[in-house]
Amino acid sequence: ETKDSFVSTIPKVELHIHIEGTLTPALKWRFARRNNMILTHPRTGVDFTTLEEYEESHDPMKARKGERMNNSEETLSFFEAYYGGFDVLRTEQDYYELAMHYYEHAAAMNVRYCEISFDPQGHTRTGTTWGTMMAGFRKAQGEAEKTLNVKSAWIMCLLRDLSPQSAMEHYLVALNYRHMIIGIGLDSNEDGRPPMLLEQVFARAREDGFHLTAHCDVGKTYPLEHILQVAAQIGHTGADRIDHGLNVTESPELMELILRKGIGMTICPWSYMRHQPMEEVYERIRTLFDAGIKIAIASDDPAFMEDTWILENLLVAKRFCKFTNNDVLRLVKDAVDVCWAPEQVKKDIL
Ligand code: ADE
Ligand code: ZN
Repeated sequence: ETKDSFVSTIPKVELHIHIEGTLTPALKWRFARRNNMILTHPRTGVDFTTLEEYEESHDPMKARKGERMNNSEETLSFFEAYYGGFDVLRTEQDYYELAMHYYEHAAAMNVRYCEISFDPQGHTRTGTTWGTMMAGFRKAQGEAEKTLNVKSAWIMCLLRDLSPQSAMEHYLVALNYRHMIIGIGLDSNEDGRPPMLLEQVFARAREDGFHLTAHCDVGKTYPLEHILQVAAQIGHTGADRIDHGLNVTESPELMELILRKGIGMTICPWSYMRHQPMEEVYERIRTLFDAGIKIAIASDDPAFMEDTWILENLLVAKRFCKFTNNDVLRLVKDAVDVCWAPEQVKKDIL
């Protein structure tokens, strides 16, 4: 990408970033060593002996491009690579370093406020306790605010491919961390998992005063009914934001609903480019923008998308949607509008 000092220097808020999606092979390698673990290929069971070998397998995009392109035995799906990494996170120090690694990137890109997603169900199933995980995150959060000038809050994401019972159990524990958690989200594999399956938790979270958001339609095309459920039904009356959901452009009625309700959409261009034609992605982003829908450009899973962070996502959006600097300013203002920070924090960003 060309140098673009306007996009680099403008203050930013990031509303869609999975902390586990920032777990680079190098970080995993470091944590694994420290925890006396040997990394093995999740499919073949073969041990990785070098970081380079590990890097190849980690990145689904890179793995597909390489020599193993047609070897489906060895090419990991996104979810295999993503959840496969959770295992190396064992100690408070691991969680602290993982979060600091993100905060340092954020600070370098002039991110002033972020809402960071995490997947507690993925961590408790590898044996990590809530206490370990949240203590590490908390320490990093305080340090980032003090020394890096990055404020933040956490979004606890529910794994939609696990049971409603597991979601509720985790939600009840999350209540102990209300001082950190600002919203409840929904992610993981959307196949056959409409958002309303977890309505009991969303309704409870809404009553308890949490903000709500949910992933829709990333990686493949899912029914527009899922977006309708997020926009109008979950948590009694619908969520505050939608994560992704680009296929909403197929329905003028749904777009109208989102616009009327002021629902923000987080959009992560680099996440779509491996699944969808580029032109379609940018046409759709432009359609949302031109309709007046508030979109927040974000990075999703930078470590799994060729190291693309919010800056790179803004740069491609600007270039291919032909956004002017003024348009970029509107993007940032809209993101501030749909973020969940206290008014005073919002005022100080731009
Ligand atoms: N969790 C983390 N990254 C995700 C993605 N790209 N899609 C669904 N769930 C996710
Ligand atoms: Zn996501």
